[in-house]
Amino acid sequence: MSKKESFGSRFGTIAALGGSVVGLGNIWRFPYLAGENGGAAFLLVYFFVSFLIVVPLMIAEFGIGRRGGHNVFGSLSRLTGSKYWSKVGYFGILVCFFIISFYSVVAGWALDFLCEAVMGSFKGVTAEVMRQRMDGFIADGSGSVAWALLFILATAAIVVLGVKKGIERYTKIMMPMMVLLLIGLSVYSILLPNGAEGVRFLFKPDFGKINGHVILVALGQAFFSLSVGMGTMVTYGAYIKKSENLFKVATAVSLSDFSVAVLSGLVIFPAVFSFGINPTSGPDLIFITLPQIFGQMQGGYVISIVFFFMVFLAAITSSISIFEVLAAFLLQEFNLKRRTAVIWVILALIVSSSATALSMVPGSSLKLFGYNLFDLLNDASSIWMLPLSAFLMTVIAAWVLDKKLFREEITTHGKYGVRLYPYYLFMLKYIVPVTIVLLFLNQIRII
Ligand code: PHE
Repeated sequence: MSKKESFGSRFGTIAALGGSVVGLGNIWRFPYLAGENGGAAFLLVYFFVSFLIVVPLMIAEFGIGRRGGHNVFGSLSRLTGSKYWSKVGYFGILVCFFIISFYSVVAGWALDFLCEAVMGSFKGVTAEVMRQRMDGFIADGSGSVAWALLFILATAAIVVLGVKKGIERYTKIMMPMMVLLLIGLSVYSILLPNGAEGVRFLFKPDFGKINGHVILVALGQAFFSLSVGMGTMVTYGAYIKKSENLFKVATAVSLSDFSVAVLSGLVIFPAVFSFGINPTSGPDLIFITLPQIFGQMQGGYVISIVFFFMVFLAAITSSISIFEVLAAFLLQEFNLKRRTAVIWVILALIVSSSATALSMVPGSSLKLFGYNLFDLLNDASSIWMLPLSAFLMTVIAAWVLDKKLFREEITTHGKYGVRLYPYYLFMLKYIVPVTIVLLFLNQIRII
């Protein structure tokens, strides 16, 4: 077994964890889901499900990882001592594999758009022109594949350097940079003529828009955005220092996630409303709608470069953490060198990411249940698989693990959060699993 790796400083820990949670989930997924599901109403639901349902599980995952000291499968099998429960770790790893397969494709588009922005090619484009370009790009397939693979190699280049010298070192630089750029962009956007309407859309809820489906979408998004439910936080939990207060870390990380989601909304919606565009365009929102806006606004050339560079930073710090779930599993369970494990993951991703990108080419036979792989992975992973694996993870944490051991780890040996613990455990035992099941049943009935 390789030497035990860990994060160095508190700031480095928060940067790495923040880097994992803040990503395309906040900048690409959150705005389009909020746009489709009622804006402020969605934000409100998202806030509650994040802090009440997802954060308790995040803390549990940290504890499982820190105590188990291994990747998600390794930690679960060491702590539960059960062949069956440790299989939940495999499921988590599979979900991570699915997520990174489409995540790298979207991040690849962001890289392509960054190049387009540098070349100034958004000048004066209309939505139709952007749509044609995007459709042409996707239909060709080769560009999508090439950019996705480049993105995977960039991710791998950081992961191969290890936890402290790679992940922590780079996220410590990239995360503050990303947040500064985002703040600058949001100020610019809010000040656009009629930008206030976008702010209203994000903050003035219409409660009539809230229903079971909206709550399930928000829950899936919260799991996705907080990187919870599939073992990322178990894997990173193993690198958290033994003396760290897990409640505090989880609070800092989840507040960053929520703030960045709000900030992205403040970049996107004021711009969308300022230019009289409908915010419900779906996954295309930042790739079709925004370039059109950049092409018309003053200073749009610089803003578009900053924006897509910021998206790239956010995406890579997240994909590092998904990649690490896969690499840590291989390197710890099969006793491989980090470099060998990274090469295996790259090889697997070359196949799966290319297949995902190519499945979007019209007439492609890479379809399942009538959906192309991209839509299937993007929706299925967060709406179906994540809540399911999150449910199983909750059951393990709250019901299967040794009670004393779990309490000891979560409260850092009785040092932090002792008074909070009974409430915390109540949430984890009853509220979290019951909510997930109820929402699930609701969704099945809808279909
Ligand atoms: N949370 C990341 C985001 O918001 C995505 C992610 C999902 C990262 C799953 C790790 C695991 O973009």
